[in-house]
Amino acid sequence: YERPFSIVHPLRLYKDVWIAEKKLRGTLVMQHCFKSRPTDIFLTSFPKSGTTWLKAMTFSTLTRTNCSLDKHPLLTHNPHQCVPFMEVEFSTGRSKIIEVIPSPRVMSTHLPYFLLPDSIKESSCRIVYIWRDPKDVLVSAWYFTQKILGGPDKMVTFDQFFEFFCQGLTSFGPIWNHILGYWEESKRRPEKILFLKYENVLQEPVKYAKQLAHFIGCPYSETEENQHVVEQIVELCSFNTLKDFDVNKDGGRVMPSTDVRISKAYFFRKGEAGDWKSHMTREMAERLDTLIKEKFEGSGLQI
Ligand code: A3P
Repeated sequence: YERPFSIVHPLRLYKDVWIAEKKLRGTLVMQHCFKSRPTDIFLTSFPKSGTTWLKAMTFSTLTRTNCSLDKHPLLTHNPHQCVPFMEVEFSTGRSKIIEVIPSPRVMSTHLPYFLLPDSIKESSCRIVYIWRDPKDVLVSAWYFTQKILGGPDKMVTFDQFFEFFCQGLTSFGPIWNHILGYWEESKRRPEKILFLKYENVLQEPVKYAKQLAHFIGCPYSETEENQHVVEQIVELCSFNTLKDFDVNKDGGRVMPSTDVRISKAYFFRKGEAGDWKSHMTREMAERLDTLIKEKFEGSGLQI
């Protein structure tokens, strides 16, 4: 499928997953070549589920003893510069960037669990997955697509986008298989996969920041607890703080072999739960909820 179904590169169906052509090539290379280290940390998500936030939280948690918060790299680097997307680096021939990251490496991917390189599944590395109410993912993805497509002549209407999404026809779709793949594996191996929900983290960020720190092997010490370090990290990584940093306002990168520019600002829109209520009719919300409920049936997972 060409635009507007895909934002930048045409989407290809590979093993029942819609993947942008360019990223599919990177994925296949990655599956053959990538060697995971036992200390690696992989941040995984369906696009628009809170990846940027998870990157900021994980990066600042891991580096907290090396840099003071007032000179923190997140003040001068976008979270995506701190934590690279593996399929992007592999599809643009820059996999060396990943090889030279000192351990413990933090990397991210939107690949579904079953497409991860075996080396990741088999090593004792950790995976953190963040998921979000698909209705809000849909709204967020629609805005993101609009910004990238540009002028009104290229717009895809919300109703059109809703139909594509329900058919699973968006990048890395369908979303239900993506969430279920990580969910099932996290039930089987909770020591390997931490399964976080965007809405829960939004409600109790300190609790989940502590859980994250513990899971990635750097829990907060009693001294840090006394100095409220976790609260400072949560504040640094909050939507309102990050979105106002100059580094997150513009710039961005031009996608290879296209004229499409993805601004860093596109990753910060509203940062709330439940924005779908302002965009979907009741019928639309019920249709998507029913679809997801059917897909999740028997898994123990609920929106
Ligand atoms: P909205 O479009 O609903 O605002 P991703 O990082 O996976 O691309 O997801 C982007 C979504 O996460 C956007 O959602 C964005 O605003 C939100 N987001 C980005 N940074 C965030 C933060 N620090 N806290 C909460 N939400 C954040």
